[in-house]
Amino acid sequence: TWHLSDFAEAVIEHVRETVGDRRVICGLSGGVDSSVVAALLYKAIGSQLSCILVDNGLLRKNEQQLVIKEFSEHFKTDLHVVHAEDRFMASLAGISEPQEKRRRIGHDFIECFKAEALNIKDAHFLAQGTLYPDVIESGADPDGPAATIKLHHNVGGLPEELGFELIEPLRDLFKDEVRRLGLELGLPENLVWRHPFPGPGLAVRCLGEVTREKLAVLREADAIVVEEIEKAGLYRQTSQSFAVLLPVQSVGVMGDARTYDNAVAIRSVDTSDFMTADWSRLPYDLLGRMSSRIINEVNGVNRVCYDISSKPPATIEWE
Ligand code: XMP
Repeated sequence: TWHLSDFAEAVIEHVRETVGDRRVICGLSGGVDSSVVAALLYKAIGSQLSCILVDNGLLRKNEQQLVIKEFSEHFKTDLHVVHAEDRFMASLAGISEPQEKRRRIGHDFIECFKAEALNIKDAHFLAQGTLYPDVIESGADPDGPAATIKLHHNVGGLPEELGFELIEPLRDLFKDEVRRLGLELGLPENLVWRHPFPGPGLAVRCLGEVTREKLAVLREADAIVVEEIEKAGLYRQTSQSFAVLLPVQSVGVMGDARTYDNAVAIRSVDTSDFMTADWSRLPYDLLGRMSSRIINEVNGVNRVCYDISSKPPATIEWE
């Protein structure tokens, strides 16, 4: 049997002291930070933890199932899944402007989360996966250019509005320490080493208007990109690797027939801080495998491009 390091024990002890016998709510996004917060709280306070996962229909393939399984079967948390895909799709209908897409997703998320949180009796704390770099970044320059280039979506302001006290157990930690802690707490490697994923999810990788049909195409193409990166042993070396569905159709040929189908861009970047990033020098053979698999296996795609832009001036996400 494994046992926790002094480091993990110390963090757990600190959480126990802070929380006492009160109830904590924790939002699960599918990402590393929120998963580690939830696992940590579960080890520290067990049944005093309630988790909320808002299913916005914008997650990657199998992502939600993995998180639900982890936090209901492995960690037997009081898990509340809010099935809100229809609501998000309805508010995204007809909207193609990136900031407006982000605004609507952020708004819907807060409304869904709030409604569920208010259903949980006697909650006192709201837990968040704020890390040390977030603390520095926001303290240094809350209105700096990085904060305003894209509307970042988080639950800022929500704890006060709901009358909850904020608890941020990862506030003193760097990302590598969070990962180590996650592994020590028993989270699976594929969750702990997951590439970051934006709050607005696949919506900002499905350029222009978001529809269920486009999301389905994007989700399949994205799964192939990630699978091939993993098979090539490059998942940890690259910082983020994903597919983007372009709002472009182009002419192709299949057998004797002309096609007029979608184009997918592959984006893979290397970065240490996500403020600047370089495009990954992926091997041509790997790019070739991704391209032929996407075109052969994903219906409605006949062209694949590789994004060779660095940040700046491009951003990592396309929207
Ligand atoms: P950009 O596209 O600005 O992205 O170069 C930098 C990093 O931030 C992630 N990102 C987000 N993360 N909510 C998030 O939690 C968001 O709205 C959001 N937008 C971008 C992006 O994936 C990259 O890691």
